[in-house]
Amino acid sequence: MDFAEQFFSNLDGGTFMVTMEDVLKVESIVREVAKKYRASKKVEEIRPPEPKKTSAVKAKDFDSEIEIKKDITGNSTCEGTIKDFQRYFKHRFQTLGDMVRNRREMRGSLEISKAKRKMSEMKFICIVNRVRSTKGGHTMIEVEDGSDVVTVLVPNTATGGSNLVPDEVIGVIGKPGKNNDLIIAERILRPDIPGRKRFSGCDDPISVAFVGDIHVGSNAFMQDKWDKFMKWLNNGDEISSSIKYMVMPGDMVDGIGIYPRQEEELLIHDIYEQYEELARLLEAVPDHIKIVISPGNHDAVRPAEPQPALPNNITKLLPSEVTFVGNPSTILLHGVEVLIYHGKGIDDFISAVPSLTYENPLASMIEMLNKRHVAPTYGGKTAIAPEKEDYLIIDSVPDIFVTGHVHWVGVDEYKGVRLINASTWQTQTTYQKMRNIDPIPAMVPIVSLQTGRARIKEF
Ligand SMILES: [Fe+2]
Ligand SMILES: [Fe+2]
Repeated sequence: MDFAEQFFSNLDGGTFMVTMEDVLKVESIVREVAKKYRASKKVEEIRPPEPKKTSAVKAKDFDSEIEIKKDITGNSTCEGTIKDFQRYFKHRFQTLGDMVRNRREMRGSLEISKAKRKMSEMKFICIVNRVRSTKGGHTMIEVEDGSDVVTVLVPNTATGGSNLVPDEVIGVIGKPGKNNDLIIAERILRPDIPGRKRFSGCDDPISVAFVGDIHVGSNAFMQDKWDKFMKWLNNGDEISSSIKYMVMPGDMVDGIGIYPRQEEELLIHDIYEQYEELARLLEAVPDHIKIVISPGNHDAVRPAEPQPALPNNITKLLPSEVTFVGNPSTILLHGVEVLIYHGKGIDDFISAVPSLTYENPLASMIEMLNKRHVAPTYGGKTAIAPEKEDYLIIDSVPDIFVTGHVHWVGVDEYKGVRLINASTWQTQTTYQKMRNIDPIPAMVPIVSLQTGRARIKEF
């Protein structure tokens, strides 16, 4: 299976024909591995393998390797003009459109203006303007591509036709309807992840812990659970001593004026004091653990996404060794690619798609990977800043994709990508009670950067 996986992951997304040459390439891999295997067997027969001394190896024995791969911080140029919006959506359509075009099923796709003149099967790539459900349980969408605008009926029997949301980029395979202006879709294609991502594990036996939505300053912040977590980090077991990185995907503090009557649930009423308290909490984290902080919708930075990293007047209050990145951002930890996104876009997915709920935000994360975009819908709950490039596009497939925001916890996998939702350190607030949000607090998802194995530690 490993060879097969390696073989398929080596094929580019457009390949659909396997030639003898392709197979021979793999055969050579097989032969090489077999040779190595036989050689190692011989050695083993003479000298039995030594037992692995994993318990002796600790994260503090290794230097940290953090690289920022993609981040809006320092690159924001938008002023919010019409021109900015045009450029932003053109970039989105071009980038995601190219990913859809790479799918072999989309070979022979045309511009809408040309495709709609065809009397038989037609294929085109488009951006969705509007989505509405029909009485019969089908979906009607209006789409465009710069050449034309058309209405497409997506019957509930169409492959891939569910979970359509405004402003996502899709491929349509369909045929003309009776009415000249209507196209009937047979299949909807998404950019998706071609094949399966192979976890690019590092050689060192170290791991990353995900610690999200701390909400310092809220009277519902769970100090006792945090203290328990810190105690475990400092004199812990084999797992805690393997932790080299702590990635924090937003809502570090509760903020001020984020939701109605928030002041009644605040313990600390000053935003700077909230971050000072956060600094105090982070002091307990052992020095060898490197912290990465990305903001969320409660943090003191512009709410429109992509959000830049926390500003200097805030970061100067926090430990100087912390790495600050934007939201979303992509970083490499020991070569393992981690996509960090706070998760505000989950709100829009849940309100647009009936099958997506707060009970399982990981399903919304799968939608994000499928659409290769963390918050496609403009004008919904997620404010979007029209930067010259669309930083909300998932252009590179990560090894680990983490979100927070929904105060839930879970780990899963989609096409080889580890999905993490990073819990919270805030118990249920009155506001959440009113809105029927039941958090799962004080949990820490931990992923081995060597093997990709994920587990959740409860406090
Ligand atoms: Fe939060
Ligand atoms: Fe949030």
